[in-house]
Amino acid sequence: MTNNPNSEKAPIVVGVTGASGVIYAREFIRELARQRVETHLIVSDHARTVAAAELGVSGEFEQWLSLNESVHACVRLQRFDDVAASCASGTFRIRGMAILPCSMNTLGALAHGIADNLITRAADVCLKERRKLVVCPRETPLSLIHLRNMAALAEAGATIMPCMPGFYHAPETIDDLLQLFTMKLCDQFDLPCSFSHRWLK
Ligand SMILES: Cc1cc2nc3c(=O)[nH]c(=O)nc-3n(C[C@H](O)[C@H](O)[C@H](O)COP(=O)(O)O)c2cc1C
Repeated sequence: MTNNPNSEKAPIVVGVTGASGVIYAREFIRELARQRVETHLIVSDHARTVAAAELGVSGEFEQWLSLNESVHACVRLQRFDDVAASCASGTFRIRGMAILPCSMNTLGALAHGIADNLITRAADVCLKERRKLVVCPRETPLSLIHLRNMAALAEAGATIMPCMPGFYHAPETIDDLLQLFTMKLCDQFDLPCSFSHRWLK
């Protein structure tokens, strides 16, 4: 592992919470693995429930990751309740963190400085250390409380990047939709991406 947080090889932390759209996280993790980026993956308990419903893999992220050996090699699965993990400390240098998808529950906790699990703690550390934090909320419609929580996080330095697929690249499949989002998320971390769906005229 490199000690330079700006290096393309510095670890990225990915928090997966119990909002719909676990498939976005899978695509991003696979892309990080293609680039051999060390990834610290934290999965909330409710994300496992949603993953079971959406991916049909009996909720086991470990099983889901082991489907692909190259993904498995790059991913370090961290326990959701392990607030003593390395990424819970500001001394552990990372490239940044994405919460993908981000539930309104986790969004609300973060916006109020609550850090009682490894996802909220690692994200809170990103904010205090002024590191890249990309929060990808998924809910609709949004209440005023949700909107205020997003505004609070944006004011604290986070990037709010809702799970909102674009359609201007004429997608034909769900993979096409995921790829545009994944490319934009890689852009956030200054990482190259296997997919290019740029608007070039
Ligand atoms: C199938 C399913 C889909 C859900 N989708 C969403 C969603 O899109 N957005 C959201 O904020 N919560 C959603 N929830 C509710 C969250 O899982 C719930 O608020 C939970 O407490 C989130 O916990 P976490 O933030 O620790 O993951 C969903 C729950 C289930 C079971």
